[in-house]
Amino acid sequence: MLTLVQIARFLHDLAFTTWIGSMIFMMLVLTPAVGAKGIPPQFLRLMGIERFKNWAWASIIILAVTGTYRLYGRFYMFDLFLMSRYGKLMMLKISLFLVMVILTAIVSLSYAKRIPAEAPQKPGEQPTPEFATMQRRFISFSATNLALGVTIIFIMSIIR
Ligand code: HEM
Repeated sequence: MLTLVQIARFLHDLAFTTWIGSMIFMMLVLTPAVGAKGIPPQFLRLMGIERFKNWAWASIIILAVTGTYRLYGRFYMFDLFLMSRYGKLMMLKISLFLVMVILTAIVSLSYAKRIPAEAPQKPGEQPTPEFATMQRRFISFSATNLALGVTIIFIMSIIR
C-alpha cells in the first residue's frame, strides 16, 4: 500500500527531474544549436520557451507543495531545526529555490513571448542588436537558474 510520504517523494523527484533536466537540455543542446545569428523563428518556437515555462511553473508548484509536506513534521521545534546542520542546509536550499522562482518569473514575464515574436522572421536574416541583447540576457538568466538547481541537488546529496 502506497503511503502519502512515498507519493510526495515520487512527485518531488519527478518535478525536479523535469525542471532541471529540461534546463540542462536547453542549455547543453538547444541553445548551442541555435547559435548567435540568423535564427529562424520556427527554431525558437521549436525550442518551445513558452511551453517550457508552463512545465517550469507546474514543477515549482509540485516541489513547493510536496517539499513542504515532507518537511512538515520537522517544524514543531523550529529553533532546534534551525540549529541543526540539516536545518541550515534545508534553509539554504529553500532560499536558493526562492531565487530560482524569481528568475523564472522574470524569464516568464519578459522573455517567453518576446523572444519568439522578435526573432528574425526569415531564415538567414540578421537579428537586431536589441534582440541579440535580449537573447544574451535570457541565456544568462537560464544559466544562473541551472547553476542554482544543480547546487540544490548537490546540497540534497550531502544533507544527511
Ligand atoms: C519549497 C521548496 C522545497 C522544499 C520545502 C523541499 C523539501 C525537501 C525535503 C523535506 C526533502 C527530503 C529530505 C530528506 O531526505 O530529509 C527533499 C528532498 C529533495 N529535494 Fe526538495 N524541496 C524543495 C524544492 C526542491 C527543488 C527546487 C529541488 C531541485 C532543484 C529539490 C531537490 C530535492 C532533491 C534532489 C531531494 C533528494 C531526493 C529525495 O529525497 O526526494 N527540492 N526536499
